[in-house]
Amino acid sequence: MALSTTFLFISLLISTAQAFDPCASSASGSENSELSVMHIYGKCSPFAPPKRESWVDTVINMAAKDPSRVSYLSSLVGKTSVPIASGQQLNIGNYVVRAKIGTPGQLMFMVMDTSNDAAWVPCAGCAGCSPTVFTPTMSSTYGSLDCKMAQCTQVRGQACPADVASACFFNQSYGGDSSFLATLSQDSLRLALDIVPNYAFGCINAVSGGSVPPQGLLGLGRGSMSLLSQSGSLYSGVFSYCLPSFKSYYFSGSLKLGPMGQPKNIKTTPLLHNPHRPSLYYVNLTGISVGKVLVPVAPELLAFDPNTGAGTVIDSGTVITRFVEPVYMAIRDEFRKQVNGAITSLGAFDTCFTATNVDITPVMTLHFTGMDLKLPTENTLIHSSSGSLACLAMAAAPTNVNSVLNVIANLQQQNLRILFDLTNSRLGIARELCN
Ligand SMILES: *[C@@H]1O[C@H](CO)[C@@H](O)[C@H](O)[C@H]1NC(C)=O
Ligand SMILES: *[C@@H]1O[C@H](CO)[C@@H](O)[C@H](O)[C@H]1NC(C)=O
Repeated sequence: MALSTTFLFISLLISTAQAFDPCASSASGSENSELSVMHIYGKCSPFAPPKRESWVDTVINMAAKDPSRVSYLSSLVGKTSVPIASGQQLNIGNYVVRAKIGTPGQLMFMVMDTSNDAAWVPCAGCAGCSPTVFTPTMSSTYGSLDCKMAQCTQVRGQACPADVASACFFNQSYGGDSSFLATLSQDSLRLALDIVPNYAFGCINAVSGGSVPPQGLLGLGRGSMSLLSQSGSLYSGVFSYCLPSFKSYYFSGSLKLGPMGQPKNIKTTPLLHNPHRPSLYYVNLTGISVGKVLVPVAPELLAFDPNTGAGTVIDSGTVITRFVEPVYMAIRDEFRKQVNGAITSLGAFDTCFTATNVDITPVMTLHFTGMDLKLPTENTLIHSSSGSLACLAMAAAPTNVNSVLNVIANLQQQNLRILFDLTNSRLGIARELCN
């Protein structure tokens, strides 16, 4: 009796410890289709640096890569092109999820990217990849896809030579300075307790340059090669995520796939579809308020235009929200007007002020068709590592490209549940403390 009580007590202790260790398992909750979402430099991520730098420095360093990401998102708008044609440029995503590929499943920490459709992972024998690779020969369900398959044309951006029956190779550039060569393949993709059979992805054979995500990328865009498209009825065209706070030690939020367990009461706005950019999640941002003031901006600077690519997208791979320059200037000027004291700059942030004024910082509201998003203070401001400065955590989009796209980024999405409901063509946002 005493012995079994002790045993019970010990097993309770063990299970409690597991329940509180967010690094312990791939599923984050009791739901079959729920995964932990980790910041790429978070505690549970294999990419966490051995020594933590201050989180504001991490954000500043990551935000330094935003302009090339935004250029990438902007560069293809207006062209009639397929989602991941060769030569296109991607950039780093900031959150990873655990996925298993093959049978039995091989664990990979893949970057979650809502603005790309395809998935790709480094494969055994890859030249220039990091040591963690997927080994096709150890999977009983692996197969490569032939050049004649429609998916091949999609990833290559062109058809294979007509009379050649061969594997589908493609070369894709990434992050401006990098590229990879991959073979279009298929295998089982395991997410939490779900299995998506015959999932088509790029098996990377060679990498050049240093910015390809080391364990691959999971495309959550809305085009034909994306997870939602390839998983058929499994997720019914619905998923949501909650990105953890940048400041949280474990940096763990969640990705919920499918309609189960999604918030019932959630404000929504229609998703807009741009046939020229089928991967992107466009929404109708109609205005921005700083405090009680509706910032004066010309409506055409926010208007959705599929032909030019203008409008606003929600993206999981850009760090801080970028508005086209005249819109950002108008927001910033109103913000500066309402904050007392001298304005300085820090990294990408040009509107910093003494942190003692944070209490009187105006609330920012993003107005969408049918939905207002009042940004929590932590989603508006970033503090310097010393804590003495607070900065408006947004910036202007780079002006050297087709600068028509506004991008709602990670920092503005933290601790919110963002629901992507493709079946009803809407995007929902609800406050949720997910870390
Ligand atoms: C992809 O193609 C480009 C241009 O042809 C080439 O420079 C690059 O080395 C190729 N990448 C790989 C990994 O082979
Ligand atoms: C976006 O909202 C504005 C203002 O309500 C409206 O005039 C416009 O038609 C909307 N655009 C789309 C594509 O729904």
